[in-house]
Amino acid sequence: MLETDTLKYLWEALQKLDAGFASLPEIAAAAPDSQKIGDVLAATAERLHDNYPYFHPLYAGQMLKPPHPVARLAYALAQWINPNNHALDGGRASSAMEKESVAEIAAMFGWDTHLGHLCSGGTMANLEALWVAGQLAPGKTILASEQAHYTHQRISHVLQLACETIRCDALGRMDVEALRARLARGDVGTVVATMGTTATGSVDPLADILALRQKYGFRIHADAAYGGYFLLAENLAEETRRSFDQMQHADSIVIDPHKHGLQPYGCGCVVFRDPQVGRLYKHDSPYTYFSSAELHLGEISLECSRPGAAAVALWATQRLLPLQRHGGFANSLERCREAALGLHRRLVQDGRFLAPFLPELDIVVFAPRTANVEEASALTRKIFHAAARRNLHLAMAEIPTAFFGDPWERANRDRSALTCLRTVLMKPEHLDWLDRIWAILDETARECMGP
Ligand SMILES: Cc1ncc(COP(=O)(O)O)c(C=O)c1O
Repeated sequence: MLETDTLKYLWEALQKLDAGFASLPEIAAAAPDSQKIGDVLAATAERLHDNYPYFHPLYAGQMLKPPHPVARLAYALAQWINPNNHALDGGRASSAMEKESVAEIAAMFGWDTHLGHLCSGGTMANLEALWVAGQLAPGKTILASEQAHYTHQRISHVLQLACETIRCDALGRMDVEALRARLARGDVGTVVATMGTTATGSVDPLADILALRQKYGFRIHADAAYGGYFLLAENLAEETRRSFDQMQHADSIVIDPHKHGLQPYGCGCVVFRDPQVGRLYKHDSPYTYFSSAELHLGEISLECSRPGAAAVALWATQRLLPLQRHGGFANSLERCREAALGLHRRLVQDGRFLAPFLPELDIVVFAPRTANVEEASALTRKIFHAAARRNLHLAMAEIPTAFFGDPWERANRDRSALTCLRTVLMKPEHLDWLDRIWAILDETARECMGP
């Protein structure tokens, strides 16, 4: 089941890496207690069985999948060195690779100049973006939609910045009229536009938010942690395309290579349009920044030690799969959205489910069609477990009933949210497996809902 063919390239690359240090005096390179290591590793493999099979197309639950083989191997290769991208003397090559990879990400968003770096993930990346935003507009409020990731509320709390939520429309996007009304009351420093919400994959209307910026003047931070790479896809709906096409006008962007960028966990990225924000990071580190006058990444990052291996893996992946429209990487994202559209189509045609809106990216939310919200939520949980027994792993989400429109909005005014099924079809193989996925879902629905 697990891909291991490419392991041979790790061995070859290790020989090459080793050869680069041939001028050093010989040391005993043998691993200590190698038999014991083998035993412990076997026990480790046993323990790892207690996981859902994220690598398999029948895992269609949360935003989880293993990295691309090239990322996995490059990361492993770097472990023989274990560079630290805080300062250049901790990781010269990997710091250069990080700068190059991040510049490619910035170029994908249309920026020739930028300031940015990798970090542990979307939370840390958003924290830096809001930290900068808070310094540039002290005392002003941050706005994010009610479907924005919870991290924005939490981070604002940590940074002691005021944060308010803006209502979403029936498609799960920030409601522009509600935003306009709040902006008119004043004191807003930053608006967070989510380019792909975690629950439903909805994309906030960035073009409309930009138009409001002209009138009210505020920073725009685009949280594209999950959705950012879809900028490269050709099969987006017109409205979604319109929003992604405006990303170059955001002031800061967060994207997570460890989501759709095929990387191991521990790889988020924050980029700022104006490199001058680097001054806000200014600090002294008498013990580290002495080896070169060149930029040490620790000088523009809140984290100190960071895995150089993450940069090595990203660099290698972007060599193999450049961040270009019409390329192989873009095509794999297009397949993910096609899979989501295909599942949505089947759900709508089937009649037993309600699938509120066309997936903007590769997330589909749906619920069994029942008389009321309570029944739907209970049946959702039943289907979730029954599908898992058939090896089809879905996820669940609490979604406003308003997203489902009629029949629930009128009949169930007392309940504002329901538990529905959610699937992130983030592996391009999901498209090939759609028939199998549907067959299992159909069988599960028969078991849970009757014929
Ligand atoms: C839109 C969005 N922002 C931020 C985050 C947080 O990212 P991380 O889990 O990498 O910290 C997520 C995670 O799913 C997300 O979807």
